[in-house]
Amino acid sequence: MDCRVVRQDFPELMVRGVAYLDSAASSLKPRSVIEAMVAFMERSYANVHRGVYSISMEASRAYEEAHEIVARFINARSWDEVVFVKNTTEALQLLALTLAFNNVIGRGDEIIVTEADHHSNILPWVRVARMVGARVKLLPVDGNGVPRWELLEEMVGERTRVVAFGHASNVTGYVSDARRVARIAHSVGALVAVDGAQSVPHMKVDVRDLEIDFLAFSGHKMLGPTGIGVLWGRRDLLENLEPPLGGGGTVKRVRLGDRGVSVEWDELPWRFEAGTPPIVEAVGLAEAVSYLEKLGMENVESHERRLTEYTLKRLEELGGEIRVLGPRDPKVKLGIVAFNVGNVDPSMVGLWLDQHGVAVRTGLHCAHILHDRLGAPHGSVRASFYIYNCPEDVDKLAESIEELLKTIA
Ligand SMILES: Cc1ncc(COP(=O)(O)O)c(C=O)c1O
Repeated sequence: MDCRVVRQDFPELMVRGVAYLDSAASSLKPRSVIEAMVAFMERSYANVHRGVYSISMEASRAYEEAHEIVARFINARSWDEVVFVKNTTEALQLLALTLAFNNVIGRGDEIIVTEADHHSNILPWVRVARMVGARVKLLPVDGNGVPRWELLEEMVGERTRVVAFGHASNVTGYVSDARRVARIAHSVGALVAVDGAQSVPHMKVDVRDLEIDFLAFSGHKMLGPTGIGVLWGRRDLLENLEPPLGGGGTVKRVRLGDRGVSVEWDELPWRFEAGTPPIVEAVGLAEAVSYLEKLGMENVESHERRLTEYTLKRLEELGGEIRVLGPRDPKVKLGIVAFNVGNVDPSMVGLWLDQHGVAVRTGLHCAHILHDRLGAPHGSVRASFYIYNCPEDVDKLAESIEELLKTIA
């Protein structure tokens, strides 16, 4: 994979010419995704699953095909295990609500998340636990912000209903061994939910190989548009669950009888996709997946690991003022490097970098507990990579930081 060739496919890079190092927040979009969405809106757009006329059927087919493409990408057993939602946050929220609504989680039960998790994988569980009288337990992290999975066996018990965790950290980039976690959780009959927001775009994620039960991820972090995300769930689990959100598109039949309104839920995945779904966005996501598949996820991953290794080396050369958060071994992490520059406020570093043509994310990255544990309560500067980044982007970052160090010396 040649990043210089790949870059040409991304109009925004060509127009703005910045070193875009914020793909963990959201990725840029290749021309093929933009064009697929425009072409669909210009020629094939109509609502899905409602009309018998040919354009509506064409749109429905494209929408269903998007489910198939995503299902193949994560090696799901069938296309109807893929539920389209708005983003990872909504996927995890929908899952937590569904499990509570169906009494899978109830009074006195326990849910385990980790201190390394993004708020999107902590708050939905905390809210649902409060609603039903369950308890959320947080698996601690070590000094590098790595979840202490060796403690999981002691933490799980007969009341553990769910173990939910981020596959890859959006701060340290550390990748957890999902299969190992799944096996421990399953040994006590708990369900395993994985927040794949930072892993699915960057490495091969095979839901069967990982032996997990649920997976959530966002289209906009993997070359697709905003407004679409995925909740994948094992079919045998999903088909026995009622959706917490009802409405158009979720039912086969609604009747008014002597005992009020009765509902016959639709097949999977429709019963979980309430209302008009993200149709155009699904077409864009399908195109994004095809683009990634053409590159090959192994190539995507190894390219980003090389950039990470190079970044760690360049930052190390700048001396002791630079503090990298999390493990420094590129073999255990994906393309994310969070750091601080002496005592300079991260947002000031971000503004400085912006003036030098480098776009990074600064702040607490929706991971307040993790930053507290890492001794960085004011946040960090985060550089994150994708397929269109080249070593020159890292050089630009390192050179700009070097300049900054000179000004504060
Ligand atoms: C690990 C992780 N989980 C969840 C999310 C939430 O993603 P979204 O904002 O697309 O819902 C993010 C986004 O940064 C993330 O990094």
